[in-house]
Amino acid sequence: MTPLKKVILVSLSIGLFSSQVTAVEKQQITFKKVMQGLLVDTQNVTKGIVLTDFALIEKSAKKILKHPKPDLAVRMKMVKALGSDMGKFKAKDDVVHSTAVSLLKAAQSKNMKAVTQAHQALINGCLGCHSQFKDKVSAALK
Ligand code: HEC
Repeated sequence: MTPLKKVILVSLSIGLFSSQVTAVEKQQITFKKVMQGLLVDTQNVTKGIVLTDFALIEKSAKKILKHPKPDLAVRMKMVKALGSDMGKFKAKDDVVHSTAVSLLKAAQSKNMKAVTQAHQALINGCLGCHSQFKDKVSAALK
């Protein structure tokens, strides 16, 4: 086998392997994983505030807005557990999304006062859902 062919073969097999790995990962987006990602993004917002790093705040707000969805199976379980409260749960999620939009705009206009206000509203948004739904949903997802 020529060295070039070898390189092509090796890179093909690596490519195949890594696409399999991501497929497996995609099947395992639990709600907890989504939440843990949100926590990291929120911590980075705090870091951006402390360091006056508007680019970091902007990047983190965008990540909050584009957070991955949990797997379909997980979402089905949640729908079942929440029943008629699904609308209220969704509304809590919307609060976090809209505060993340405010945060993004504030960071883009480099307005630290607006950033800290949106940051506070964001945290309140997290707590607003947790206080009402965290235990119930957590139990249902176990
Ligand atoms: C719409 C409801 C809702 C909103 C909004 C929400 N959470 Fe959660 N969060 C939950 C639920 C439900 C759980 C429990 C999940 C479980 O135990 O499987 C949870 C759990 C968590 C956990 C614990 C994960 C673990 O490993 O046990 C963290 C961290 C977290 N949320 C962070 C956040 C942050 C940060 C925000 C705001 C940016 C946020 N959440 C907004 C519903 C929400």
